[in-house]
Amino acid sequence: MTTARAVIDLDVPGDVISRHLYGHFAEHLGRCIYGGFWVGEDSAIPNVRGIRSDVVEALRALGIPNLRWPGGCFADEYHWRDGIGPRENRPQMINSHWGDVVENNHFGTHEFMDLCEMLGADAYVNGNVGSGTVREMSEWVEYLTRDGDSPMARLRRENGRDEPWRVPFWGIGNEAWGCGGNMTAEQYALEARRYGTFCRNHGGNELYRIAAGASDDDITWTRALMESLGCLTCGSQPAPVFQGVSFHYYTHAGAGINTEPAVEFSTEQYYGTMRKAIDIERVIRRHEAVMDSYDPDRKVGLILDEWGTWWNVEAGTNPGFLFQQNTVRDALVAAVHFDAFHRHAGRLKMANIAQTLNVLQAMILTDDDGAMVLTPTYHVFEMNRGHHDATALPAHVLETPTATDDVPALSVSASTTDDSALVSLSNLSLDTPLDVRVDLRGRTATVRRARVLTGADAASHNTPESPDAVAPASLETSIDAGVLTVSLPPHSFATVELDLA
Ligand code: AHR
Repeated sequence: MTTARAVIDLDVPGDVISRHLYGHFAEHLGRCIYGGFWVGEDSAIPNVRGIRSDVVEALRALGIPNLRWPGGCFADEYHWRDGIGPRENRPQMINSHWGDVVENNHFGTHEFMDLCEMLGADAYVNGNVGSGTVREMSEWVEYLTRDGDSPMARLRRENGRDEPWRVPFWGIGNEAWGCGGNMTAEQYALEARRYGTFCRNHGGNELYRIAAGASDDDITWTRALMESLGCLTCGSQPAPVFQGVSFHYYTHAGAGINTEPAVEFSTEQYYGTMRKAIDIERVIRRHEAVMDSYDPDRKVGLILDEWGTWWNVEAGTNPGFLFQQNTVRDALVAAVHFDAFHRHAGRLKMANIAQTLNVLQAMILTDDDGAMVLTPTYHVFEMNRGHHDATALPAHVLETPTATDDVPALSVSASTTDDSALVSLSNLSLDTPLDVRVDLRGRTATVRRARVLTGADAASHNTPESPDAVAPASLETSIDAGVLTVSLPPHSFATVELDLA
């Protein structure tokens, strides 16, 4: 047993933690859409209009704030007109990025918006810059959001939808430095301005346009994009042509994405993973620093619209489908990311885990026989739900042992809403329990509920045969003279919900 100390100032509210930091991503990739969300209306698996019901029900418990679609790399080869109208008439295409499989376009604009409505999630539609046109993107916005009489609004009505949809978030291409067109930062920045201009606000639908940004800490992209917006501090300037700048950050154990095992990992790979997860904060800081120099008033949001672990695919599955297992280690990666997100909520406005179902660091794994498993990562999202739109509180680690070398054992963050607070704590040590004492300053707190998520070991995961091998359990805690004491098992994540007086 080792000990750690932290302090939380309950009376020093900081930035609002946008619920959109808990956003999701569903790409036409492997079994995320087809065989995941979309089983089709004739499936024996219970569904509503082709969308799998148990998945929707489980995700509703997470309060998913937004869903990004249709990619990813797929977005830059997707042509939306192929995905509207009677399904039997929709043309096919090759999904060349992901498995080189035939895409039948049965899940298109109407099906996606139906899914968003079922989930209660805002739509984040990612348009095609790489192989599309400005006109194509502009007309998609019109099709989705225009009321009254217009060519695209008429076409939408012909396809059975009278009312326009609300689409708050719009992506201008994806990974333009790679699968989105292999552009330079300067070249893409000009394209983003041009495409962004023609993504109109129709009626009351105000788009938050997101420019495709950097990989990892490549701040040259962030610089080029911010530079292209012109002077953001000059009083009479028009509103920026895009409102968000994205970046992507994937976690691996040290050897690179797509090369390391999801379950049979070594101690070195476990700690390599924690190191990489913790490093997200340095990466956020670099992008923030660049953005601050152009935009001290934080008019433009930093958007991490792809993050999560990327392991080898499960044996026997299509390598292009990115289907991987999800363990306690993945849950801790998520927990550490959220702690960093909460600390940077002033600039970081949205984040989307890759991906919701059956791909990369998924919330849910399904099979074609109807089985559905909630992953350890799912439980972190659920346990942290109280941070949505809450106000971040300063949470300082005063003392912590190291789990190994440069990896601290304790990670912590906190937020408050009205007369309650939520504290999230992780013990990143593989094998040593951690006693944490948290000084709760400024207000009187009592524990409403405390829960812990762990498994027999860090590779523990859920399967159809053992769906609750990793599931939240109640945790004993106490508060004495304003000091919260929590005993964290090795490789565990905990949340403590507090009532404040
Ligand atoms: O999430 C999988 C892929 O990772 C996305 O399609 C792409 O944007 C990124 O490289």
